[in-house]
Amino acid sequence: MQNDAVYLGREKELAGLKLLHAGKVRDIYEVDRDHLLFVISDRVSAFDVLMSEGIPHKGRVLNSIAAWWFEQTRDLIPNHMVSTSLDCLPGLDPAKAELLQGRTMLVRRAKPTTVEWVVRGYIAGSGWKEYGAKGTVCGIPLPAGLEFCGRLAEPILTPTTKDEVHDMPLTPDEARDKVGAELFEKARSASMALFERGTRVLEEIGVLLADTKFEFGEIDGELVLIDEALTPDSSRFWPVDQYATGKNQPSFDKQILRDYLETLTWDKEPPAPTLPSDLLERVSNRYLEICEKITGTVPSGVTV
Ligand SMILES: Nc1ncnc2c1ncn2[C@@H]1O[C@H](COP(=O)(O)OP(=O)(O)OP(=O)(O)O)[C@@H](O)[C@H]1O
Ligand SMILES: [Mg+2]
Repeated sequence: MQNDAVYLGREKELAGLKLLHAGKVRDIYEVDRDHLLFVISDRVSAFDVLMSEGIPHKGRVLNSIAAWWFEQTRDLIPNHMVSTSLDCLPGLDPAKAELLQGRTMLVRRAKPTTVEWVVRGYIAGSGWKEYGAKGTVCGIPLPAGLEFCGRLAEPILTPTTKDEVHDMPLTPDEARDKVGAELFEKARSASMALFERGTRVLEEIGVLLADTKFEFGEIDGELVLIDEALTPDSSRFWPVDQYATGKNQPSFDKQILRDYLETLTWDKEPPAPTLPSDLLERVSNRYLEICEKITGTVPSGVTV
């Protein structure tokens, strides 16, 4: 495969644009008052630790999956995506353009809501912990006797705060108080409709959508889907053919990496161990496979 140079990002300046924020995976640059440029790197973390190496094409895969969902869900709610073409960065030299091809998304700048909109169809992660302790998830009472990773009778909205360090669970009432009743109702109904769409589409390709996080923002008074949507980074995707309650489910994207790390005597604290190149390639192929399954094609910028 050509053009598989890894992009780790975190460049303070890109084609004259200033880096505003670097998350675990994405870098955000300021374009103008109304637009931002998202650059999705190949950075990868496992067990909450950032690896030193990147996964070839991972950023392209995540970007193209998010872009695909933005197109597919426009009938449910407008979104922030403007373009995934590099035309908005005319000053790029050709080598840099090749490296960035497929990793960028020009978006409309929004005022993000102060809530993250998590929807769960199955019970795992922090939801399982709260259920074990109190029989609730985000204060929503659930029936007794649910099994770990079990399916909920119907999907539930389990909002969280949007904090720098740890997002904290909010009851739906607390979320409503934070954002106001009108915005809450719009975001709630969009979240549920998007989750239902995601569930149905992914089911067809053998993927269970266990839970996912949406973000919304306001642009000129209109509520818009922002950030990323229904990617393996913002969701739990479980392979349906290996699904069983009462145990951890394999992760659709990162299992090869996690399994490898489990063979080491590493305490899961930084620094991360060095990853062998054949492992990086196998994980990369896994991401490309997921991308093809969802979008029907390999991402832009990947030449096979
Ligand atoms: N269209 C938009 N306009 C303004 N802000 C946006 C837009 N889309 C997303 N954002 C914000 O950009 C930020 C993206 O940050 P990102 O998720 O990459 O890193 P993080 O939240 O700091 O850390 P993590 O990597 O753990 O998620 C979020 O705060 C999100 O709300
Ligand atoms: Mg984030």
